[in-house]
Amino acid sequence: MAFPELATDRIRLRPISHADLTFVFEHFSDLDVGKYLLDDDPLTSLEQAQAIIDFYVSPDAQSYNRWIVERKADHRPIGTCGYHKWNRRDHKAEIGYDLSPFAWGQGYMSEAFERIIAFGFGDMDLNRIEAIVHPENAASLKLLERHGFVREGLLREALCRDGVYYDHWLLSLLRREWPARGPVGAAS
Ligand SMILES: CC(C)(COP(=O)(O)OP(=O)(O)OC[C@H]1O[C@@H](n2cnc3c(N)ncnc32)[C@H](O)[C@@H]1OP(=O)(O)O)[C@@H](O)C(=O)NCCC(=O)NCCS
Repeated sequence: MAFPELATDRIRLRPISHADLTFVFEHFSDLDVGKYLLDDDPLTSLEQAQAIIDFYVSPDAQSYNRWIVERKADHRPIGTCGYHKWNRRDHKAEIGYDLSPFAWGQGYMSEAFERIIAFGFGDMDLNRIEAIVHPENAASLKLLERHGFVREGLLREALCRDGVYYDHWLLSLLRREWPARGPVGAAS
C-alpha cells in the first residue's frame, strides 16, 4: 500500500522525498529534537540525512513510512511523523513523531495525530497502535494520553545511549478505544 498525502486544517502530511534533504538534516541534527529519541543519535552529516530518506523512499520500506509535516500557511516543514514496524498479521504498528522546536506548543502534532490515527485504524486496518517513550518526555506522554493512549508498562533499560540504559514507557491505543469521530480535515 502506498502512503498518500493527507491534510488537516493547518497542515499537510506529505510522504518524505529527496527534496527534503536540508530539512531532514537540520531537523534531526537539532539536539532538542533528539533529546529523547534514543534509538537514533542526532545527525552530524548530510549523508546520514540522505540515508534516512533513502530508507523511507525505498520500495522495501513497506513496514515503515514517514510523512513530512508541512504548515499550510507558509509551506514550511515543521516536523515528521509516521508508522514503524507495521505488522499486518497482528494489525499493529508503532507511531513516531517529532516537531521542530519553533512549532512546539501550538497543537500541530495533536492535529496530525487525529489524522494519522484515523488513517491507521481505517486505511491500514490497524487494531493496535504502540508508542515507546522516554519517561522524562513529558510533552510526548501528554500528547499520547490526550489521544487516549494507555501506559501498559515500563520497559526496563530498553534503550542505551552513551553507555547508559534508559527505561521507556510502552503505551498503546486500540481501535475499539478510538472514538468514532472520523478524520479531522479533509484528505487530499
Ligand atoms: C512530542 C512533541 C511532538 C509534542 O509537541 P507539542 O507541541 O507539545 O504537541 P502538540 O502539537 O499536541 O501541542 C500541544 C500544545 O499545543 C497547544 N494547542 C493545542 N491546540 C492548539 C491550537 N489550535 N493552537 C495553539 N495551541 C494549541 C496545547 O494547549 C498544548 O500546549 P500545552 O502542552 O502547553 O498544554 C514535541 O515535544 C517534540 O517534537 N519533541 C521532540 C521529539 C520527540 O520527543 N518526539 C516523541 C518521541 S516519543
